[in-house]
Amino acid sequence: MARLGVWMAVMVLTMAAATVAWSGDPQVPCFFIFGDSLVDNGNNNNLLTLARANYAPYGIDFPQGASGRFNNGRTVVDILAQLLGFRGYIPPREGTRGTAILRGLNFASGAAGIRDETGNNLGDHFSMVEQVEHFRTTAQQMARMFRGNRTALFGYLNRCIFAVGMGSNDYLNNYFMPSMYSTSYDYNPKTYAALLIQDYERQLTALYDLGARKVAIVGVGQIGCIPYELARYNSRANGSRCNERINKAIDLYNAGLLRLVESFNNELPDAKFVFVNTYESSKDLTNNAAAYGFEVIDKGCCGVGRNNGQITCLPFQQPCEDRSKYLFWDAFHPTEAANLVYARKAYASTSTADVYPMNIQQLAMA
Ligand SMILES: *[C@@H]1O[C@H](CO)[C@@H](O)[C@H](O)[C@H]1NC(C)=O
Ligand SMILES: *[C@@H]1O[C@H](CO)[C@@H](O)[C@H](O)[C@H]1NC(C)=O
Repeated sequence: MARLGVWMAVMVLTMAAATVAWSGDPQVPCFFIFGDSLVDNGNNNNLLTLARANYAPYGIDFPQGASGRFNNGRTVVDILAQLLGFRGYIPPREGTRGTAILRGLNFASGAAGIRDETGNNLGDHFSMVEQVEHFRTTAQQMARMFRGNRTALFGYLNRCIFAVGMGSNDYLNNYFMPSMYSTSYDYNPKTYAALLIQDYERQLTALYDLGARKVAIVGVGQIGCIPYELARYNSRANGSRCNERINKAIDLYNAGLLRLVESFNNELPDAKFVFVNTYESSKDLTNNAAAYGFEVIDKGCCGVGRNNGQITCLPFQQPCEDRSKYLFWDAFHPTEAANLVYARKAYASTSTADVYPMNIQQLAMA
């Protein structure tokens, strides 16, 4: 039975390769996702961690309810998968077996970061290093489905899109948590950003070596402006809406990321890396919130304490009535409505301030 499944998968692949994409086909054969709670879709559900979202009211606007996604509905990668023409979402790595992996997997894990220790204050998770190892295993499983033909496997993987979004937790649940982590004593914002980029370069190079060529690197947004930070620092009293110390540190990291994307494109054969400038998008969303239909930008739709930002959304807590008016679902995560704006910019924006040097739609065709 398993043999038959594999044989059929090979047949389908051969046919797909031989045919010009018919309507209804996704624009790329597969989509792999690496990241943190912004894109996790259930990989943490069976881990011992506070970074879990498989309870109501998370998923209140998602057809299957609380799946482990950290907002009320779809994540940015769910929406990107739809825009890329996939039927259904890319499944979480945890619990997905067999030929389903040929379409792609989501390896993301809430609380994960570039650095291994990042997020340990919340409990178990899969760090970026572990996510890359999980992909290595997946690629080995795929190789068997391609009868060990590495050329064929690489030809296939080379056409897939890899989305990687890391770094938020390396700041939120590491550098700016000095009671738990020593990094802010050991590094200044500039040397810390350089350290992260250096580690990230190694991890992304490993993905390239495993066959990734079309890679969308997602930068970190204005996390100095999320309800959690607004609640912690009460920056309103300061005349500023956001914690500028955090935003400045993120600026340094994102600038390093942009340079990294350029150097990959210049130095690795056939590399097509794209920088998704979430910082720019989140700034636009905040500054032009009303034009996008948002009314509440400094407060989570669900949460506890000041700005609904002191504790995350608790089980069975009553969320706000109209989720489409809120930028943030909880202390940390955007609503589905905000994710729609982020995803559409990443997919279709013609401004290199949003996506550089091309958008995801162009990346799919490249
Ligand atoms: C491996 O795959 C490539 C590309 O699809 C094909 O040209 C080649 O004949 C295959 N090699 C073997 C040994 O099947
Ligand atoms: C408050 O303002 C001071 C002085 O401009 C600045 O150094 C500090 O970072 C601000 N605090 C926050 C939380 O933004």
